[in-house]
Amino acid sequence: MAKITASVYTSHVPAIGAALDLGKSGEPYWQPVFKGYDFSKQWLAENKPDVIFLVYNDHATAFSLEMIPTFAIGTAAEFTPADEGWGPRPVPKVIGHPELAAHIAQSVIQQDFDLTIVNKMDVDHGLTVPLSLMCGQPQAWPCPVIPFAVNVVQYPVPSGRRCFELGKAIRKAVESFDKPLKVQIWGTGGMSHQLQGPRAGLINKEFDNAFLDQLIADPEGLASKPHIDYVREAGSEGIELVMWLIARGAMSDVACGPAPKVAHRFYHVPASNTAVGHLILENK
Ligand code: DHB
Ligand code: FE
Repeated sequence: MAKITASVYTSHVPAIGAALDLGKSGEPYWQPVFKGYDFSKQWLAENKPDVIFLVYNDHATAFSLEMIPTFAIGTAAEFTPADEGWGPRPVPKVIGHPELAAHIAQSVIQQDFDLTIVNKMDVDHGLTVPLSLMCGQPQAWPCPVIPFAVNVVQYPVPSGRRCFELGKAIRKAVESFDKPLKVQIWGTGGMSHQLQGPRAGLINKEFDNAFLDQLIADPEGLASKPHIDYVREAGSEGIELVMWLIARGAMSDVACGPAPKVAHRFYHVPASNTAVGHLILENK
């Protein structure tokens, strides 16, 4: 059967993608950001999954105010990189895993979660920047990726609790797939940032580090954090962090397994307008 081997968490700042694509990653501003991912690139090469289930948010690229799915699973064979601002990134196309994606859709919907099934979708920095941070600049991404888009842009957005429960359902879905695939689940976006209004530029190191501590040690308690706390403490875009609870809910310890191993933890401010946070948790 398939299993979830690890979860990865990382911010998705679009300027990080631009820094890589424009050859600026060695500049003093960017060096400390990329240094935090040296371990991660090595780790991913040594712990190569068969599939990455990548939880991210679309930024009005694939979806718009015309149509806003709360949870959308990409079931296509491939996904084309696209982006706002800097334009489509010059990165490899994303190869999907239609068979596993369809199985997860079937299982998770039968577990009473409403997913939108998306057979054609472009993917923006929310998905491609985490891949770049973890893989560098390869000719092709190391394995198929199932994009899983969460609405954290237009209110009402899903609660941390619902995201955490969804993670549990995704773990059950993966573990009922009849092929011995190693699957990693990535939770992306965050950490604290606010891009508009009088509080634009807000970053909250204390909140972010407490979030990382609790995500590791007490995800069940963290799942109860209300929206208003994210928005007040981590800024309007800090709400992207609820997506990390989907990945965390899919780890074994949540289903009575052993606590995960913290393989890597990194935090840096600022990158563009955002605090960069990153964790790798391995199932034991
Ligand atoms: C920035 C961060 C984001 O999460 C985003 O989607 C766009 C911009 C920023 O830090 O500039
Ligand atoms: Fe974002």
